[in-house]
Formats: sequence, structure tokens, C-alpha cells
Amino acid sequence: MTNKDKLIIFDTTLRDGEQSPGVTLTIHEKIEIAKQLSRLGVDVLEAGFPVASQGDFDAVERIAIEVGPLMVGREAIGKPVTIAGLARAVPADIQRCYDAIAKAPHKRIHTFLATSDIHLQYKLKINRDECVARAVAAVSFAKTLVDDVEFSPEDAGRSDQDFLCRVLSAVIEAGATTLNIPDTVGYNMPEEYGSMIKYLIANTKGSDKVIWSAHCHNDLGLATANTLSGIMNGIRQVEVTINGIGERAGNTAIEEVVMAIHTHPAFFPVYHTINTPLFFRISQLVSSLSGMVVQSNKAIVGANAFLHESGIHQDGVLKNKTTYEIISPETVGANTINLVLGKHSGRAAFRSRLQELGFGELSDEEFQIAFNSFKALADSKKRVTEQDLIALLSDQVSASAGDKPTFVIKTLQVVSGTTFATATVQLQNTATGDILLDAAIGKSGPIEAVFLAIQRLVSKKIRLLKFDIRAVGEGVDALGQVSVKIAEDKSVGSGSDSGDDVVEEEPSSSSSSSNNKPQNHRVTYHGHGADSDIIQAATKAYLNAINRLVANENGRVQGERKVDV
Ligand code: KIV
Ligand code: ZN
Repeated sequence: MTNKDKLIIFDTTLRDGEQSPGVTLTIHEKIEIAKQLSRLGVDVLEAGFPVASQGDFDAVERIAIEVGPLMVGREAIGKPVTIAGLARAVPADIQRCYDAIAKAPHKRIHTFLATSDIHLQYKLKINRDECVARAVAAVSFAKTLVDDVEFSPEDAGRSDQDFLCRVLSAVIEAGATTLNIPDTVGYNMPEEYGSMIKYLIANTKGSDKVIWSAHCHNDLGLATANTLSGIMNGIRQVEVTINGIGERAGNTAIEEVVMAIHTHPAFFPVYHTINTPLFFRISQLVSSLSGMVVQSNKAIVGANAFLHESGIHQDGVLKNKTTYEIISPETVGANTINLVLGKHSGRAAFRSRLQELGFGELSDEEFQIAFNSFKALADSKKRVTEQDLIALLSDQVSASAGDKPTFVIKTLQVVSGTTFATATVQLQNTATGDILLDAAIGKSGPIEAVFLAIQRLVSKKIRLLKFDIRAVGEGVDALGQVSVKIAEDKSVGSGSDSGDDVVEEEPSSSSSSSNNKPQNHRVTYHGHGADSDIIQAATKAYLNAINRLVANENGRVQGERKVDV
């Protein structure tokens, strides 16, 4: 048995991670990610910011109910995940947060208030005394609702440390059980962050009664280093996201922190209970669903993380893997990506592979849809890999009944070559049952032709802001995965060009408060699609984004956030 402390893993992929530019997850996608995070073994799952919008509230509530009690993959941990919600230090936020998490067996309210002079002066326009009073009032109120209360002094990394000690001593007295120290703007150096933690623990009254937590942003590429430095100085909870996604340059990547501890057991005074072989799969799932491509050279989960290119390295690895590998691919699940199914694989093999991938709870109908897509792919592709399955299932999660798409493709025909490309597209409007048919010419190729035809069919003028295409795996039969970002061009007919002066805004990202909201803001939506035919993959991605736009208009998915984080 170890005499080390357990490191609490607090995952914020669905809250801070979802604030990444371009990321808008539907409720169904969030639940799927939450289930996988629970299996991965995270201790606390921050499911969202309930007051931000009805969509956020619904997602947090559904996760509390559906994921909060799950024990799959948590046998060694012995308890289900704690569901946390974020709340500003105001009663309405805290109450709303509680209402959303209430049904989780283990729940936490995470409330925050900025403490740096910059934020007090320019953002909150309050003095230090008012700051302490607000923080104490918030924690005291949260404590009347739940036992488990976390407080974050936002922008702690640039706050006066003695003032921080004052605020933190006061919130401990008011009942906070976890104190999270955010480097909100990713400003700190590892030494600096570590010594700040040491100083705060030494000088805060009651510091031994609480868990100290690190929350580092990656603006200088130092989030992991700062978090690890924090652990060496008393941090026992880390706030992290899958693939390090998050605001601006992102948050601390869970896989990096956990694998650093895993690789250096003698160095760190903590142990973790994460099922590390699930890292690769969940990384791909989050990447597919969020549309945030993982850079190939990303530590631990990048496509090149275990590839040895140079002859000298290959020779070394063939002789003994440890010559150039500090982590074996199996430890993070990177070996499984080449495990294959083929067209002769039956339902049982397919079901068992889905179970291994964590998609074991599909209904009969969902299973049948997945099996049909697999068979269709296996007909055109000799080897269907685990990566292919994750891409297919991510698509299915997005397009599943939980977030019923308004428009579905019925038929698609494209002609292209040395002359202009043409596309004939037939869609069905599932709300009205109408079949819609149109054709268009694409001067720059078949994808433009398809997109133009779809715009006419859905009666919307759409601006394409991002188009990414990549192959999942190798070979000419590789599945193509397309990710797009779009915005509706509302200037049509107004005589003005929608132009680049428009302020861009994600439906799920923080927005300016209504009184200083820019007039011309533009809401963006991402979409993704996978198919062995890249035109079809692009069509699926485009329609997926349009369906999010339509669902947002109808209030079926998260709308614009009304408040800032
Ligand atoms: O970065 C930050 O300060 C945050 C807080 C809300 C914890 O995300
Ligand atoms: Zn943050």
C-alpha cells in the first residue's frame, strides 16, 4: 500500500473545455463524453455552467441524473463520480447550479470570484473588502445547499498573495472544502506558481482542512509544468481537460499530468486512479465531437506520439523498445487503434468491440444503425480500425435521436472533372416530412456545389469559416473526417456585406453582458462528418453544423450564454 496522497482528478472538459473557440457540443454529445470520463476514472466532473443558458442547465442536469450514479470502470475507485457545476459568487447562480446537480449522488458547487486588482478595478468595480464579503456570502449560501463547496479566486496567478490568504482564510471559515488556485490567463512560471501554492498553504488559516487545487491555462505553453509544480508544493486536486482543450490556448491536459506522475512514481508525492489505457480513445472521441483536431505531435495522444521515423530510432526500438519509448503505447491505449474488424465480422464481434470502446449502452435501434454503418464501411474498406469506429460512432452520437436533426440527406449526386462541378442534393425536413430537391454549380469544385445547393434547400445564407479534412488511418480507402465551422450570414438583402468587422461568438462560449454586447455579433456552429467518400463526409459535416444552427434557433440546443465566465 502506498503512503502517498491520492491526486483528485477534476475534469473540466465539458465546462472550461467547451469554452474553446468553435466548440459547441449538443446535450447528447456531452452525455457521451461524460460517460467516457466516468469510465476513465475522473473523480470530479465539472459538467457545465448551469446559469449560462437553458442548454447548459439541461446538460448538467441530465449528466447528474444519467452519469452521476454510474460505476462502470470505477470499481477500483469504489464510488461514482462527483458532479460539479460552476456558479458566479451570486445567489441566483448558486441556486441554479444546485438545481442542476441536485440529483447526483455526489455533488459539488464550484463558485468563483476574481481577486486580482486588475479584475476588481476594471471588471467587477469593487474594492477588496467587498470582494471578501461577496466570496464569504457565496460560500456560506452554497454550504446551505451542499457539503462539498469549491471556491476559486479567479486570476489568482496575478493577485496579491496576502490578499489571497485573507480571502481564502475567510472562505474556509465559511465552509469551503476545496480551494482552487487558477492561473486564469496562463501568466505564471512553474517556479512562481509552485511558490505561490506553498505560500498560500503556509499562510492561510485552516489550510490543512481543505484540498488545494490547481487550474492552469496554457497561454505560455506552461499549463502542465505549472500544475506539476503545484503538486510538488501541496496541490492535491488538478483541474484538467482531455487534449488540453479550453479557452484561448487551452487548459492543462489530463493525459500529460497523469502520465507524468505515472512515469515518475518516485518523484511525485501522489498517486492517481485513472484508467490510462482509455486515454487514446477518449482523446479521439473528444476530438471528433468537438471538431478540435489533435496536433500530430501532441504529447501522449498525438498521432505521432509513438511513431519512430529515423532509422537509428527504429533500429533501437526493434532491439529494445525502452531505447526510445518512455511509455509503452498500450499504457495509453495507442496500440489498439490498429485492431481491426472486417466485413466478415459479425454482430457479436462488433458489439464486443463497441463495449471495449465504451459504447456498450446503445439501444437496439442505435446498435442496428451503428452496425449498418459499420457494414457499409466494411464493404468499401478492407480493415475497419478502432479509429474508424470512433469516427463513425461520434457521427452517430451527434446525429442521434437525442438531438434529432432537422435536415437529413436523402440522395446526393456530384459530377466533377475538368469543367464546373455540379451537385444535385435531396434533403428531407424531418420536422415537416417535406422532401427538398435542388442543384447547384460549384466554380471551385464539387464541395462548393454541394454547399450551395444545401444553402438553397435550407433557405439560409451561410458563411463557411473553417473547413478541415483529414484521413482517419492510412490508405486510399481511409475514412475521411471533415470538420467545418459556419455562421449564418444575416446581412443578405440588407445591402451591406456581412464583412470581417463582425464580432464572432460561439453559441456556447461566454458572451458579453447584454448592455455591452456588440451590435454585430455572429454566432458560429461547428459540424463534423465521417465517410470513406470525402464529398459525403463534407456534406454530413456541413449539414451537421446547419442542424445545430437550426436547433439553436428553435431552442433545442444550447443558445448563447447570457453571462460571462
Ligand atoms: O480560469 C479560470 O479562472 C476559471 C475559473 C472559473 C475557475 O476557469
Ligand atoms: Zn479556466
